[in-house]
Amino acid sequence: MANIARDTFVVGLRNAHAMEVQARELMERQSERLDEYPEVKAKVVTHLQETNEQLKRLEQCLEACGESSSSLKDTAQSLMANMTAMAHSVAGDEILKNTFANNAFENFEIAAYKSLIALCSAAGMPEAKAPLEASLKEEQRMAAWIDSNVEKVTMEFLSHQRQAA
Ligand SMILES: [Fe+2]
Repeated sequence: MANIARDTFVVGLRNAHAMEVQARELMERQSERLDEYPEVKAKVVTHLQETNEQLKRLEQCLEACGESSSSLKDTAQSLMANMTAMAHSVAGDEILKNTFANNAFENFEIAAYKSLIALCSAAGMPEAKAPLEASLKEEQRMAAWIDSNVEKVTMEFLSHQRQAA
């Protein structure tokens, strides 16, 4: 008997896993180059740790669904993330572009977790709800932080530019 809700949930978990691998690569690249923005760097490093936990949660959810998490095909997305980060690193206003990209990325993640949480009961996986909600809260915190710091980061960038001129 096909279980469409369960299949949709499993595909969603796999996609979310690929998304978090991409997020991790982006933040790893960024954190190496954020010495001039210590506050942003601290936030990115903290969220990088959260992202590693989120990946473990997704792997546990997949295993609870009877899916192996070793066969995840995240490579293509990871390569894309690296290319995005490299493209940004060439530009002088890398910090601004990365801030906008991170803002978009966190909101993408929020929607993905909300969708997974909505599927839990129908997929027969009510126990997956709590860990997914924990990840959702972390994404919402990060998105809120970025949203409330866009102007501040912009003015910091401006002052760095003035010092370098
Ligand atoms: Fe995130």
